[in-house]
Amino acid sequence: MNELNCYMSENRIYIFDTTLRDGEQVPGCKLNTKEKVELALALEELGVDIIEAGFPVSSPGDFESVVAISKIIKNATVCGLTRAVEKDIEVAGAALKHAKRGRIHTGIGTSDSHIKSKFNSNREDILKRAVQAVKWARKYTDDVEFYAEDAGRTDNEYLARVIEAVIAAGATTVNIPDTTGYCLPTQYGDKIAYLMNHVQNIDRAIVSCHCHNDLGLATANSIYGAINGARQIECTINGLGERAGNTSLEEVVMVLKQHSHLGLFTNIDATKLNPISHLVSDTMRMPVQPNKAIVGANAFSHSSGIHQDGFLKNSETYEIIRPEEVGAATSKIVLTARSGRSALAFRFKNLGFELDKNDIDSLYQQFLKLADVLKEVEDENLILLATEFLKQKAA
Ligand code: KIV
Ligand code: ZN
Repeated sequence: MNELNCYMSENRIYIFDTTLRDGEQVPGCKLNTKEKVELALALEELGVDIIEAGFPVSSPGDFESVVAISKIIKNATVCGLTRAVEKDIEVAGAALKHAKRGRIHTGIGTSDSHIKSKFNSNREDILKRAVQAVKWARKYTDDVEFYAEDAGRTDNEYLARVIEAVIAAGATTVNIPDTTGYCLPTQYGDKIAYLMNHVQNIDRAIVSCHCHNDLGLATANSIYGAINGARQIECTINGLGERAGNTSLEEVVMVLKQHSHLGLFTNIDATKLNPISHLVSDTMRMPVQPNKAIVGANAFSHSSGIHQDGFLKNSETYEIIRPEEVGAATSKIVLTARSGRSALAFRFKNLGFELDKNDIDSLYQQFLKLADVLKEVEDENLILLATEFLKQKAA
């Protein structure tokens, strides 16, 4: 299925944020309850639909965090992860007791690799365990999400049988994780389309994408999933998550905004994307790579002469998003040895220096010598350069 025959009837994409669960699994990103609550409130402000608050059975601290988040969150659904294990589900049910809207996210591995290596089992047994898990979860809430772990490498015909059975058992959202980040966008999109077309009761559940970034394709795969009928995307701020991370929330939101012809939209307030990225990075003590899309320090920086010249004539020549749309500071003209005269003139003008074309030509040669040494030329260097130049000119 392609963009044109995507499911146009219900075009809202629900954002399921798993920064506090899959994101928090990153070594070094562990949060305490206070930190988790602070981030949950910021996620709610951002407009996420579902907050995966943790894995309650995993530790007393995580149980306490899910309880605290359940008590404080008013608009978003609060979700707790479980395995297809009765005790996990009972503990998640207890942790979510106070939630205005609580969801249990339960599931099991469905690929042959998981079935054989992890469970030493067979497809029929796994299908029964999946159905049983959903039935246990339904004792605690009407909002049950089932994940078919490693769905990306699961045989489609078997996956469709599992999904149909768990929906019949009461799952209201079905999550199709590309757990290992293996799929190509077309493969993942085709998998979602296959389920939309072969699962008889698929209209009774929302299909969800949960993609990992091992090949750098997590966002592309999620978008292809949505184009083919999925209506929930699971993602994290800054793309945090196991190994190479999860689909990045900010990327999904801005892809859908930029490509409005897809007719898909989220409820996210994009102007809060940069502030929350900083908050998550600081709280989790995990720096954001400078070239990260949307929220990286260089996302709105221009450093080569050709780009700077074009950008200064019209920002749209080199920027598809205005920084204020995503709550970032203004675009930056960075001065390096690759910068041109127009950028240098622009920066001098901003610093209050009145310089003509000949002045800039002379200063540019001095600037290049400095830039070769300094890598980046800062305002204080420019002030010294211009002051000295004007002094000599006046002498
Ligand atoms: O990547 C994955 O498969 C998961 C599941 C637990 C949803 O994180
Ligand atoms: Zn995951």
